[in-house]
Amino acid sequence: MPHLTELDTPAALVDIPCMQRNIARMQQRMEGLGVKFRPHVKTSKCLPVVQAQLEAGAQGITVSTLKEAEQFWAAGIADILYAVCIVPARLPQVLALRRQGCGLKIITDSLAGAEAIARFGRQQGEAFEVWIEVDVDGHRSGIAPEAEALLAVGRALHAGGMKLGGVMAHAGASYECDEPVALRRIAEQERAGTVRAANRLRQAGLPCPAVSVGSTPTALSAQSLEGVTEVRAGVYVFFDLVMHNVGVCPLQDIALSVLTTVIGHQPEKGWAIVDAGWMAMSRDRGTHKQRRDFGYGQVCSEAGEPITGYVMDGANQEHGIVCRQGGGEIDGDIERRFPLGTRLRILPNHACATAAQHPVYQALGPDGQARAWPRFYGW
Ligand SMILES: Cc1ncc(COP(=O)(O)O)c(C=O)c1O
Repeated sequence: MPHLTELDTPAALVDIPCMQRNIARMQQRMEGLGVKFRPHVKTSKCLPVVQAQLEAGAQGITVSTLKEAEQFWAAGIADILYAVCIVPARLPQVLALRRQGCGLKIITDSLAGAEAIARFGRQQGEAFEVWIEVDVDGHRSGIAPEAEALLAVGRALHAGGMKLGGVMAHAGASYECDEPVALRRIAEQERAGTVRAANRLRQAGLPCPAVSVGSTPTALSAQSLEGVTEVRAGVYVFFDLVMHNVGVCPLQDIALSVLTTVIGHQPEKGWAIVDAGWMAMSRDRGTHKQRRDFGYGQVCSEAGEPITGYVMDGANQEHGIVCRQGGGEIDGDIERRFPLGTRLRILPNHACATAAQHPVYQALGPDGQARAWPRFYGW
């Protein structure tokens, strides 16, 4: 096993003790609120990470692609929610997984979708388990809790012979918050809207066992989850600078970083050039509109200590520009600060996007030894 100091750069580092603390924090919070926890595995797409989540008490997983469903089913995980509205053309893939014994659940937010599922299910003799996506904040997809369409979709599934498994919502508007009061408000909005949708279905005589909500900011801000049966969160496992700006984690909780090496300088500009560009960090500039813009990432020492005031300000494909945010370092300061060959870590804006740039994580134990944890991608 190589030591941190022997790893080739750039590399995606996962700090295992930090990740384990994030997992424990979320699991304990969910248990305290009396709900099941179904992590969204699109952040890591990595079996050892998901095994750690399940070992901590998670029940089932959420996926964003059928590739994730196939990979995690092959690893023995059966309770899987595919939380992106189903494209009818993908139903044969869903059917194949269910025929193998995978308890894959799918979602829809339209009558056309519900009818297509029911039609295909009847043709194939398969009662697909379907959850209805509810829109609680106008952020993306879903049916409004009060909409007539909710009952129409529920009836099309139920009367069509499918298993109406529940409702689910994702309050993506929580990413725009950065105050505890606003976070608690959006968490309550997510809870109340989803529970309301479930109750409307039940009052119409339709089954609705699962009431599923979740995003990292709302999961960490909800004060009550009355009526909710489970929560889904994903990025909390690594956290990132966007979540730091939202206000749900200190910098020290960010478990994912990119290891990089200083390959040159532009002293008159106050720049150190590193060998991690946007290919290693991703193009995600998610902190751009937040309270603090971290450029392409926060600079840390090789050991992981944040170096206050230094960010990756610019990125080409394989070059990153490290400098003091807002300028102010000239006449060779930067060469003394970060001599050629200095190894640094960069904390990412968006962990899911940065992780997706790398085929493997270098997972660091407390001893500084790195285990290679493969991750997968594609659809
Ligand atoms: C449907 C759904 N559920 C849950 C999540 C998890 O959100 P987060 O990564 O903020 O925890 C996402 C993230 O995009 C999502 O799309």
